[in-house]
Amino acid sequence: MIVAGVMSGTSADGIDVALVRITGKGYKLRLKLLGHRHFAYPASVRAAVLAAMNADQISVAELSRLNFLLGELYAEAVQKTTQRTGIAKVDLIGCHGQTIYHQGEPAVYRGRKIASTWQTGEGAVVAARCGIPVVSDFRTADMAAGGKGAPLVPFLDYVLFRDRRAGRIVQNLGGIANLTAIPANAKPEQVIAFDSGPSNMVIDQLTQILFGQSYDRDGKIAAGGHILESVVNTVLRNPFFARKPPKTAGREEFGAAFTQQFLRQCGKAAKADVIATATTLTAVSIADALKRLVLPREKEGAYRDYIVSGGGVNNKTLMAMLAQEASALGLKLKRTDDFGIPSQAKEAVAFAVLAYQTWHRKPANIPSATGADKPAVLGKICYA
Ligand SMILES: Nc1ncnc2c1ncn2[C@@H]1O[C@H](COP(=O)(O)OP(=O)(O)O)[C@@H](O)[C@H]1O
Ligand SMILES: [Mg+2]
Repeated sequence: MIVAGVMSGTSADGIDVALVRITGKGYKLRLKLLGHRHFAYPASVRAAVLAAMNADQISVAELSRLNFLLGELYAEAVQKTTQRTGIAKVDLIGCHGQTIYHQGEPAVYRGRKIASTWQTGEGAVVAARCGIPVVSDFRTADMAAGGKGAPLVPFLDYVLFRDRRAGRIVQNLGGIANLTAIPANAKPEQVIAFDSGPSNMVIDQLTQILFGQSYDRDGKIAAGGHILESVVNTVLRNPFFARKPPKTAGREEFGAAFTQQFLRQCGKAAKADVIATATTLTAVSIADALKRLVLPREKEGAYRDYIVSGGGVNNKTLMAMLAQEASALGLKLKRTDDFGIPSQAKEAVAFAVLAYQTWHRKPANIPSATGADKPAVLGKICYA
């Protein structure tokens, strides 16, 4: 099958589409990336998406319209990708949608303990416009099975990166930093995966507030700033970082409220220092998670490779910090690009693979990663 994977992450930067040829089934499936494209959200759409994540202030009418609008934009992104790559025959689309709310941990609501998640972007619209069946809304089935609904990319990580001899840690640097640790010769149930905290999300918000830019391009601002070590150490005391996996994070944890407090903690520091400090928080919180929650579970030296992807690989300051942290932990820093998967395309590839599994009525959550009681067939299908 040729499957289009469509991803738009918590950064709300835009839409990534990957066209993937997939054969075989389950953990033995094989894939070849045929092409990928990125489409930035127009500024007004980005503003609407960010507003929709502000749960207390958004109206139901706005959410309803946004669902259909995003359906149109996802469909256009798929169509443009097939035109530009010259790959006409797509059999299936896997569309993650835009997360506007995610609460992985059950909490009392109207007398019952409820966890919930919401990805918007209407699959029926994508299916109708493209004339191709669409799988969307992947996270709910995992949650219904007692999982946190995330992370779901570990299925792809396990398919692509498991190795007989070397333990590997696969790290995505999106808005949130999430990692998948695969011990050498691991069975799926030995995979550990969780969100360690922010990757670009806090840097992006602070760069917007202080410099009026949506991100710190190539990490140039951070490169010129001094690091406020005491702020990093204070923030690391936030209980999220010490909590044992499974755990997930989003704008609920590291959005506007967190960023405002971070700014206050930086006091009168120079603007570039704030960005340098936020960048350090990302690198140090990741290293801390590796040290506390991943590496001690195996023999020393059992993990060899640290394989990164996501928009954050373009932040040279962040990458330099991560290279230093990885080498101190005895890990070799690599990129998914070294394995034939471009950094920016990986998550889109993952949702192509997840859709393919669903189409064959096969599960694609890894219960040890999400905390689900059992494997679940993920998503909802809209037939064209
Ligand atoms: N040239 C660059 N320099 C620094 N950061 C970048 C660059 N390009 C992309 N990014 C970062 O990557 C983010 C998007 O990464 P992405 O993997 O798409 O995350 P998400 O899955 O959350 O959408 C941007 O918001 C930005 O922070
Ligand atoms: Mg993105």
